[in-house]
Amino acid sequence: MLAIDGRIAEVGPAGTLDAPSGAVLIEGMGRIAMPGLVDCHTHSVWAGTRLGDFVRRLSGETYAAILEGGGGIHTTVAATRAAPEAELLRLTRARLGTMLAHGVTTVEIKSGYGLAVEAERRMLAVARAAAGPQRVLTTFLGAHTIPPDRDRREYVDELCGPMLAACAPLADAVDVYCDRGAFTLEEADRILRAGAAAGLAVKAHAEQVAHTGVAALAARLGARSCDHLERADADDIAAMAAAGTVAVMLPGAMLYLRDVSPPVAALREAGVPLAVATDLNPGSSPVSDLWACATLACLTMGLTPEEALAGITSVAARALGRPDLGRLEVGAAADFALFTPPPGEIADPRVLVQHLAGHRAEQVWVDGVRVR
Ligand code: NIG
Ligand code: FE
Repeated sequence: MLAIDGRIAEVGPAGTLDAPSGAVLIEGMGRIAMPGLVDCHTHSVWAGTRLGDFVRRLSGETYAAILEGGGGIHTTVAATRAAPEAELLRLTRARLGTMLAHGVTTVEIKSGYGLAVEAERRMLAVARAAAGPQRVLTTFLGAHTIPPDRDRREYVDELCGPMLAACAPLADAVDVYCDRGAFTLEEADRILRAGAAAGLAVKAHAEQVAHTGVAALAARLGARSCDHLERADADDIAAMAAAGTVAVMLPGAMLYLRDVSPPVAALREAGVPLAVATDLNPGSSPVSDLWACATLACLTMGLTPEEALAGITSVAARALGRPDLGRLEVGAAADFALFTPPPGEIADPRVLVQHLAGHRAEQVWVDGVRVR
């Protein structure tokens, strides 16, 4: 492969490419070449532990009941607010470092553990500061849940007013968790419209615990993605198909919450593009291995290995509004990773989905520069 000025200039078999001056020639030598992976849904900025929730859920309590009882996301909000900014940055960089080792070159990071104007702004600032060598795209998720000490009407007013004003300059998208224990459909409508009016792309945590209709609502607002979708219905799917909204599969959350699969066959049938992401967070998906999520998406949701590979690269990039990423094609950003196949395996990228082995990239390149 040839890269010039950070873009892919030519792709071809070994020995067939001549590098003009100013070009970088990268030789795969029997390794598997992947576009830099794209993790399009993470909550990578947080402090504190949720080990307690994990143990409670294992003994039968539900995610929604723990949240409604003041635990869950609220536990992480308290710890994240209390952490010094330098500590949050250190933790976020450490998480991104793990992802880079797996070949992930673009990461979306949401706020949502601040739930107050300055605390939300600070999370987005930390996320942006953590960029490099990876690309980071940020999403404002002040609508993650309602702080227990706040009146919900007042909180939504603040969110759509001063909080959005402080956060929009640091964000690429707006997201809302519309669900049992979180925001209603009416609130989600108001929040997403306010975010869109502030110039942000629309996303939603949709139809995860209870069916709310937010997937159809967000799609009608032109959402780039609707994520989770365990309880999406025919109406949601039709609206997403009509809008070209990407469905983001989060098999880590499905596994940890021992939940049902999203309706993959119906999404596929309707022509809704399928992405796969980690949902990295300390509660419902303490998972940073995007390859493992690709494997789980096949085993627990029924994606094909080809769909899973596209789901962690080009389709994930589309969910972020970045069609120039996640492809090994002329003109795309020269972000890619080289992997040695598992022992005895063939150099076919599908073997990296087949084997649940914590794949680590031998080389990682961003913008035509080697970063690992
Ligand atoms: O995507 N469901 C809401 N938000 C996250 C969980 C965050 C948390 O539990 O801390 C999710 O699963
Ligand atoms: Fe999430």
